[in-house]
Amino acid sequence: MMTLAEMAVAVLRTADGREKAALSRKFAAEWRASRADGPAIEIGQATPPDFPARPAQPELLDPRDVPHRKPGTPEGRIALLHAVAHIELNAIDLHWDIIPRFADTPLPLGFYDDWVKSADEESKHFQLMCDCLEQEGSYYGALPAHAGMWRAAEDTANDLMGRLAVVPMVLEARGLDVTPGMINIFKQAKNKSAVAALEVIYAEEVHHVSYGSKWFNFLCGRHDLDPTGVFHQLVRKYFHSDLKPPFNEEKRAQAGIPPDFYWPLAATNRQKPDKA
Ligand SMILES: [Fe+2]
Ligand SMILES: [Fe+2]
Repeated sequence: MMTLAEMAVAVLRTADGREKAALSRKFAAEWRASRADGPAIEIGQATPPDFPARPAQPELLDPRDVPHRKPGTPEGRIALLHAVAHIELNAIDLHWDIIPRFADTPLPLGFYDDWVKSADEESKHFQLMCDCLEQEGSYYGALPAHAGMWRAAEDTANDLMGRLAVVPMVLEARGLDVTPGMINIFKQAKNKSAVAALEVIYAEEVHHVSYGSKWFNFLCGRHDLDPTGVFHQLVRKYFHSDLKPPFNEEKRAQAGIPPDFYWPLAATNRQKPDKA
């Protein structure tokens, strides 16, 4: 019987996107079954790779060299779906990586439930984006993609609170800000399957952000730290740019991220609404 940490490493070492997603979903189902019927699969220890295995395609480019296409064209919409697929593939690896990476930190089983569930959902999101691309006559790998996606994982490889602050609470929270605009683009293009897929992603990403906030606050409580101050400190240390308004304040609130977490880190405070 594999430990959960070994399962995570097996996903990280699988290069093909569809295979990675399928293995991730299989292991997530095994974890869930073991939690329902007991005993839970052992967490164990395993060494995650520095970089997850990735397919030969897409070609990974510096973000400055990834061509920008207008979303008003069919090519632009394919490029948008491709970019989301790439983010989802990276997210599968990010959620599995947190398990073996920080296996030395004792955490309640609920921590593993949350990240296994998130990884399972990212796998579904990747599959949905691949299906949408294939419906448009394209596929994941057909276009160049962003090379810098693993940067956040590398930067926070030794800091669990930093990982939670940057990955779910900054990067995935950013997804909540931008996804409604993407849904509109596909509504206007009358692409019903892309709209449906992005609505699934939008609904489920709120949970990933909330798991980040939950466990970040848990660790602050364990170490008797002020969550807001520590969050600002860790984001400034590990995240290399300002946060970009407008923010989806409603969904961020639903996910447990209050305005005083993100506004002080914004590129400009000028759009901050007056305090009521
Ligand atoms: Fe996702
Ligand atoms: Fe996510």
